[in-house]
Amino acid sequence: ASTLGASAAEHGRYFGTAIAAGRLSNSQYSTIAGREFNMITPENEMKWDTTEPSQNNFQYGNAEQIVSFASSRGIRVRGHALAWHAQQPGWTNGMSGSTLRNAMLNHVTQVATHFRGRIYSWDVVNEAFADDGRGSRRDSNLQRTGNDWIEAAFRAARSADPNAKLCYNDYNTDNWNDAKTQAVYNMVRDFKSRGVPIDCVGLQSHFTGGSSYPSNYRTTLSSFAALGVDVQITELDITNANATAYANTVRDCYAVARCNGITVWGVRDSDSWRSNESPLLFDGNGNKKSAYNSVLSALNEG
Ligand code: G3I
Repeated sequence: ASTLGASAAEHGRYFGTAIAAGRLSNSQYSTIAGREFNMITPENEMKWDTTEPSQNNFQYGNAEQIVSFASSRGIRVRGHALAWHAQQPGWTNGMSGSTLRNAMLNHVTQVATHFRGRIYSWDVVNEAFADDGRGSRRDSNLQRTGNDWIEAAFRAARSADPNAKLCYNDYNTDNWNDAKTQAVYNMVRDFKSRGVPIDCVGLQSHFTGGSSYPSNYRTTLSSFAALGVDVQITELDITNANATAYANTVRDCYAVARCNGITVWGVRDSDSWRSNESPLLFDGNGNKKSAYNSVLSALNEG
């Protein structure tokens, strides 16, 4: 097929992008987004600070803008992110213990209930592990409410939206040999063995630097899949849009039956959170880059 999404769909996968509500009025942006992708993740609009700016006062306007852009075009939505140490609203400052735990669980319940039936998969918990080389949990206000905060968030999300796939999402979990990857793997294995409701693992896959795509990436994908969860590549971008690494990422996903989709973290380089590294598939003028062509042909090869 001639677009990313349609090509992936022919192989039972989706190909998505992150979308910012504030850019949808740009016709170059929305034209590319609507043409190329069949999954959308709101880049910031479903985060805690945006959706619950004051406690129990929920604001869904920006998120709804993206959901309606998507649904009017038959594009599905990944929800991002219900519980995270970053982008919390100011009112959580100074909260701790059961007060914070209950505020978080209420947030998860309210947001997942609001969007019930409209979200393909939720990043229920985002980035809960540290980069300390030992596989520790990240220290955060949420972690300090007790080690079981992650499973509590998953249970609340399942009750609120039983049909959404529930994902744990993180970065630096691409190299199978890294302690952080192993720690997430062990958590997922534990959750599956104890019946904690988890359906998928999101590998953000922000590949930084020429060698950052790990040669054992396929092993990472297949190892997670073997635990009985889907694997989704959720925030892919690659320094200077290395075309070989992009194509290898697609091939690795195709090689694993339960790797069911890939999302790039933005449309044009100018839309990227690291725009100075030109990590995406379209340049700032909306032109297809060589990485676009190599991804498209890898999507069609499979
Ligand atoms: O909307 C305000 C604007 O009103 C204000 O004038 C401006 C001044 O700084 O800030 C704007 O908000 C910014 C927002 O992006 C929208 O552009 C925030 O400061 C900025 O912090 C925020 O950055 C986002 C970042 O998450 C926050 O942690 C990036 O867009 C977003 O791409 C990035 O995405 C994360 C994923 O959620 C999780 N994984 C890593 C990934 C990259 O950091």
